[in-house]
Amino acid sequence: MYCSSCSDTMFERPVIPFLIFICCLYSYNCIIVVPERILVRDVNENYVKYATATVRRSSKRGEYVVNVDIYTKVVIGNNVTVHINLFEYNSKYNQYVRTPMVFQYKWCELVLHDQWFGPILRKNGLTRCPTPVGRTTLSNLTLSGSFPFQVPFNRGKFETIWKREATNELLGCIETFITILK
Ligand SMILES: *[C@@H]1O[C@H](CO)[C@@H](O)[C@H](O)[C@H]1NC(C)=O
Ligand SMILES: *[C@@H]1O[C@H](CO)[C@@H](O)[C@H](O)[C@H]1NC(C)=O
Repeated sequence: MYCSSCSDTMFERPVIPFLIFICCLYSYNCIIVVPERILVRDVNENYVKYATATVRRSSKRGEYVVNVDIYTKVVIGNNVTVHINLFEYNSKYNQYVRTPMVFQYKWCELVLHDQWFGPILRKNGLTRCPTPVGRTTLSNLTLSGSFPFQVPFNRGKFETIWKREATNELLGCIETFITILK
């Protein structure tokens, strides 16, 4: 599944939105993360009916945002763990190499309490947890903001993996390819 509308704009330098610019003046370690494309890698149909994710511009010359549409067949609570792994792109070998920047959360801990990735979800209306059965849509997700770490490279990807804690079964996996502006 490719996001064809993104490929032609891949290395175009986006307009840095004013609010993010202000954020970066005042907060610790703010980085501007431009999503290039996003791929739903795996969906476990026992738990998830469908999952789609796309990258769009929020307006004609606006920033790049992520839209997610997921339909879950079961309640998702702290019995699901989320792994967020950051990879660095190595142009010499044309490979994504896993970095030590790996994070693991219980789903509701992430949604309700986490101060780094949580705001990305909460800003877009995911303020309740557990997530009920049915459709969840998140629109206009921007990935820029304060991060708990320095990111010493410009291209990479985030791998986000949901697992059922009791059995370690995969529920889904989404890859987000990013460019980082500093
Ligand atoms: C996302 O942003 C676009 C452009 O700013 C806006 O038209 C749209 O209503 C927004 N969607 C949501 C769900 O906020
Ligand atoms: C998580 O727990 C809820 C409530 O006990 C349950 O309904 C749901 O099926 C569980 N989710 C998974 C993925 O096991």
